[in-house]
Amino acid sequence: MIFTLLLALFQTAIPLPVHADDDVEAIAQGCAGCHGETGVPTDLKTVPIIWGQQRTYLVKQMHDYRAGDRENEVMSPIAQDFKPADARKIAAYFATKAWPEASGPKAAGAAVPPKGLDQCQACHGTSFEGGPSGPRLAGLSEAYLLAGMNAFASGNRTNNEDMPKFMRALTERERMAMARHISDVRPGKKAISAVSAPVPRQPAGSVAPGAFITE
Ligand code: HEC
Ligand code: HEC
Repeated sequence: MIFTLLLALFQTAIPLPVHADDDVEAIAQGCAGCHGETGVPTDLKTVPIIWGQQRTYLVKQMHDYRAGDRENEVMSPIAQDFKPADARKIAAYFATKAWPEASGPKAAGAAVPPKGLDQCQACHGTSFEGGPSGPRLAGLSEAYLLAGMNAFASGNRTNNEDMPKFMRALTERERMAMARHISDVRPGKKAISAVSAPVPRQPAGSVAPGAFITE
């Protein structure tokens, strides 16, 4: 009984950064249990891709989960052990990985850009590759994108001032159409037409749009 318990604990334990010189690779192994060994999450519907995500966004999310500004029953406890220096290290580790070619089945109707999408491109990038003003969205699953958009709209996610306003201005149907479209965008491969905003400059060291595609 005790052995089984210990084994269960061991299997679910995530190596956490106790010392500043902890091996980032070892910590990342713990994340891989959900975020994936190759960057493809074990459950695309609920777990976001963090490989190749914007570094500053990752740092901020680790901060927000720890501070209680963003709440999630899985990530909030994990983030407790990440002091700012640890969060910066693990964020840099994942941000420099290439975004995986991850997607699930293509959604019907995803190819048609819904109206209003150009507003999002101003911050999330022309191909939703992300930049200094917003995280990458392209290639995240439709379900995860929609859950995030709905959480902003309903007031369950409040760690940004603008997003709740934008999301409340849309109907759920409009949010659904946007999530479906954005999840299907592959930067560098499929340019979308409704573009007026300039592409935000990529921060130094990040992967250029288009470099995510391996096939
Ligand atoms: C048991 C599964 C699990 C483990 C282990 C895990 N995560 Fe997560 N992670 C999640 C889920 C689920 C979410 C989405 C939570 C939400 O909706 O707020 C998430 C979200 C995130 C986000 C926000 C990304 C975004 O696009 O908003 C970051 C950053 C993150 N995790 C980093 C990590 C790091 C770093 C580790 C390892 C130290 C880790 N996670 C370990 C399940 C996990
Ligand atoms: C003024 C800039 C701005 C605009 C315009 C904007 N966003 Fe955002 N968005 C952000 C920022 C910044 C974040 C990250 C907030 C945080 O710190 O968690 C974000 C987060 C998100 C997330 C959560 C991503 C994740 O990994 O959890 C989604 C989904 C999203 N935005 C969709 C949209 C859509 C769709 C539109 C257009 C209708 C839009 N955004 C317009 C700045 C913007």
